[in-house]
Amino acid sequence: MIVLLVGKKRFIMDTDQKNFNSEYGRVDLTKIKKYGQKIKSSSGSVFRILKPALPDLFSKAKRGPQIVTQKDAAQIVAMTGAEQGWNCVDAGGGSGFLCLFISNIVKPGTVTTYERNKEFAGKINKNARLFGLTNLKVKNKNILNGFSEKNLDLITLDMIDSEKMIKKCFSAIKDGGWLCVYSPHIEQQIKCTKEMEKLGMEMRMIETMQRDWKVDTRGFTHPRYMQMAHTGFITVARKI
Ligand SMILES: C[S@@+](CC[C@H](N)C(=O)[O-])C[C@H]1O[C@@H](n2cnc3c(N)ncnc32)[C@H](O)[C@@H]1O
Repeated sequence: MIVLLVGKKRFIMDTDQKNFNSEYGRVDLTKIKKYGQKIKSSSGSVFRILKPALPDLFSKAKRGPQIVTQKDAAQIVAMTGAEQGWNCVDAGGGSGFLCLFISNIVKPGTVTTYERNKEFAGKINKNARLFGLTNLKVKNKNILNGFSEKNLDLITLDMIDSEKMIKKCFSAIKDGGWLCVYSPHIEQQIKCTKEMEKLGMEMRMIETMQRDWKVDTRGFTHPRYMQMAHTGFITVARKI
């Protein structure tokens, strides 16, 4: 994948293609040798070639059900200290946004995501290829029927019935490891924390508010008028 920048416009392209056509002319992609290179299109527009960053890839990723946003995924990483080499399980995989974010952090460690819906499981696989992540394994299975991974550093749950998984997850996490439940509804968090408490887990629950600002350096900078008011609650619990 490459990013093509022309003026303020940004295109994210697969390098398998030979040409890229737009209102700015045709770009011969075979002439691209390195990131940072400038290249002229058939109509004389100058394109700059950049390496895609994670936000570029997320803007191209396929979406199915409601995703975990990057602000919430980043909080999960911050609260657990997820790092290179960790082995993790995620369920339900959904569009894969949370497991892609974590896979990118823990590589060469692994993430196995469980998604019971075949179409969504396919979307996660496509997104993993787009991100070039080979450490993410997608299992098209219902995790309520059990999972085989053990000695895990982190399990993330974003699915209906998460509370039914707490005991099984506790057994699969290593001492000092983490269990994280994400949900848009507080009722599910309460059910999960009751189960976590029975197991003596250390818990912390948060909700993250983020306000985007419109930057206008002429002196008109202000918070954007339309904001996302609520995404979800996060409970992070540690096996101690
Ligand atoms: C809200 S989505 C998850 C979104 C995902 N975390 C993301 O960031 O893209 C919830 C998903 O859980 C899946 N799911 C629900 N129960 C499941 C189960 N028991 N086993 C596996 N997947 C399940 C659903 O099919 C759905 O795709």
